[in-house]
Amino acid sequence: GDIFGKRKNSMGLNMNIESQSAEFFEKVRSFQNNQWQGGPIVNGKLVETGQRVGVTSPQQSTHQIGTIGWGDADLAAEALTIANGAQTRWSDTDVNVRAEALEKLADLLEENLHELIALCTLEAGKTLQDGIDEVREAVDFCRYYAIQARELMGKGDKMPGPTGETNELFTQGRGTFICISPWNFPLAIFIGQVTAALATGNSVIAKPAEQTGLIAYRAVQLALEAGVPGDVLQFLPGKGAEIGAYLVSQEEIGGVCFTGSTNTAQAINRALAARTGALVPLIAETGGQNAMLIDSTALPEQAVTDIADSAFKSAGQRCSALRVLYVQDDIADRIIELLKGAMQELLVGDPIEYKTDVGPVIDGIAKTNLEQHIIDIQHVGKLIAEAPMPDFTNNGTFVAPTAIEIDSISQLVRENFGPILHIIRFKRENLDAVIDDINNTGFGLTFGIHSRNESFAYDVAKRIKAGNVYINRNQVGAVVGVQPFGGRGLSGTGPKAGGPHYLYAFMTEKTFTDNI
Ligand code: SER
Repeated sequence: GDIFGKRKNSMGLNMNIESQSAEFFEKVRSFQNNQWQGGPIVNGKLVETGQRVGVTSPQQSTHQIGTIGWGDADLAAEALTIANGAQTRWSDTDVNVRAEALEKLADLLEENLHELIALCTLEAGKTLQDGIDEVREAVDFCRYYAIQARELMGKGDKMPGPTGETNELFTQGRGTFICISPWNFPLAIFIGQVTAALATGNSVIAKPAEQTGLIAYRAVQLALEAGVPGDVLQFLPGKGAEIGAYLVSQEEIGGVCFTGSTNTAQAINRALAARTGALVPLIAETGGQNAMLIDSTALPEQAVTDIADSAFKSAGQRCSALRVLYVQDDIADRIIELLKGAMQELLVGDPIEYKTDVGPVIDGIAKTNLEQHIIDIQHVGKLIAEAPMPDFTNNGTFVAPTAIEIDSISQLVRENFGPILHIIRFKRENLDAVIDDINNTGFGLTFGIHSRNESFAYDVAKRIKAGNVYINRNQVGAVVGVQPFGGRGLSGTGPKAGGPHYLYAFMTEKTFTDNI
């Protein structure tokens, strides 16, 4: 049967069929020397700004792939006025029209697959496989939210009328949503935020991460081509400290959807609280001090594959990525030995090569911070293994996947958003303390457990305060409509992207009581 009901997730590519993969690689590579030009799009038109910024590749800082114009607070003010002017009309538009535009956008993303994958690798340093997955996720968000919007907003809900009145509940968009997206999913999360807001009848001002404006620019061009009106969707690349800070301090906004660091989410919270005007929601998805626990019944070979995938794939730059591995002492030596072997096999290198496992981190600042963390944490911990680095690095921002044994999760004081795994041995009798330690970090995004003792695995998974728990598998790569994704506590405000309730966070409701 069709487990997705009315919708199927997009298909991947079968790389084992050589004719398919050869053609695919060639098409992606045809964009390798492309020069992209982008900039703010306000009221459907590209705006020339005074500030044009060169965009280079994380894997080769000398390779400029294009330029992007950055907007400023004045342009943001203009965009907000236009977006607000369009919002009631958009919210009153038949939901099917909105949904069709998103479905058309999904088709256009698929038609432009090779260019978008090339941009993922060139602008964000993503591996080819991550680029493929990224475009699929973006496509899935479009189709999933289109269907959800039709179901949730197509008609009102009849309520009981015990006194003879008729009562009906309707949903509407809230206003203009400020969507602030991260560089680690420069297409998928960008599209996920924007389409959720648009589907539900909001106007949008989309502010992409500073590092990844070009791919977002292409996505917005495609959204406009798909039929999203130019006054409804505004695109404002630029400095977060200027444009983001300006927008979240404005009275006339409908809500904020943010994915990025906990610190920035807290700053947005403060800005929203400090302003006057409508009380609006913040939908925030931030990082995690994500743990995995391996008990002595786990299958070591399977566990180690899942550890390496969770900690090092995507250069550890997923918010879901594994940061702290707890291993029961009886099995710890075996796991660590296998992990060392697995890390020797990791291929760090040029992300456009399909065989590459781990690409660069996003930029020089990230590389410096991560390398400093590796030095600092060794004052309290012990280096276990480092994956071999490529001989060529072309000034790329590569960081070697690294495993370090420490004593306690409380030793992790620095944010470490990269391919660094911390390992802690635990004794079975200290399990309660381990669970407390994990919960006491205050983060609650992903958690993994490997065990062949089912009741034990479920018991631990239930007690960990995390948004997504995974048993006997890796803990990254949540699939739209399959593993609704999002955290709690310091990891986010909770709504689950790609889940059946996500769109409610973008809506307001209106009850009609009719006594005619
Ligand atoms: N949705 C992504 C994942 O599950 C976020 O990091 O990996």
